[in-house]
Amino acid sequence: MEKDTEVLIRPSRDGDVDAMLAIYRRHIRHGVEFGVDEGDTPEPDDLRDRRKNLKNRRFPHLVATRDGEVVGYAYVVLFRKRPAYRYAVKHSIYVHHEHLGQGIGRLLMRGLIDACAAAGFRQMIGYIDADNTASLGLHESFGFVRVGHLPAVAFRHGRWSDSVMVQRSLGPGATTPPPPPPLSTR
Ligand SMILES: CC(C)(COP(=O)(O)OP(=O)(O)OC[C@H]1O[C@@H](n2cnc3c(N)ncnc32)[C@H](O)[C@@H]1OP(=O)(O)O)[C@@H](O)C(=O)NCCC(=O)NCCS
Repeated sequence: MEKDTEVLIRPSRDGDVDAMLAIYRRHIRHGVEFGVDEGDTPEPDDLRDRRKNLKNRRFPHLVATRDGEVVGYAYVVLFRKRPAYRYAVKHSIYVHHEHLGQGIGRLLMRGLIDACAAAGFRQMIGYIDADNTASLGLHESFGFVRVGHLPAVAFRHGRWSDSVMVQRSLGPGATTPPPPPPLSTR
């Protein structure tokens, strides 16, 4: 695999959905993080709708491309739906299995953090399988702190697995209140 070609980060498009789905499916079948049934995999239309919804609500949804091919993606959703939680997001990040360990996860994470901070979000939260050393390492290197350990919350590959909850503040974090809402919504 060509490692010297430049990797670009940009917002995802409808045309990226099939490539994102292929990356996701491969991790489902082989990844430490997943181990779910094929039936739980979203279909292309689901992913397309989901992506459009996220985009409409201005939640960052990014892809990494190399030579025009999608080699990874990352996005956020609201941490919780209730209005009080509107400044906190929960993220996901996936890199194509043939492009792991080449700095793409790092580029996506940098892009996602910057885009979320620019969008006004204040906290970013992730759940990581306790055995997922790559993801734990990536998050640690971006200043995510382990804020929780959830024992035995997943059952996969014939055994119970723990999850680690990580969190990082964005922009001014909790040092200032959020800006007042626009006049039209007051
Ligand atoms: C986690 C994941 C996104 C990392 O992407 P990546 O492109 O391989 O990572 P990078 O090459 O950018 O590495 C960034 C950092 O992650 C950590 N890391 C990456 N691979 C690692 C590994 N195999 N072991 C330990 N740490 C690792 C390191 O801290 C690394 O920094 P360094 O190179 O300075 O040591 C990727 O492994 C992946 O897609 N995994 C499957 C899906 C998944 O688990 N997503 C996360 C769900 S929470």
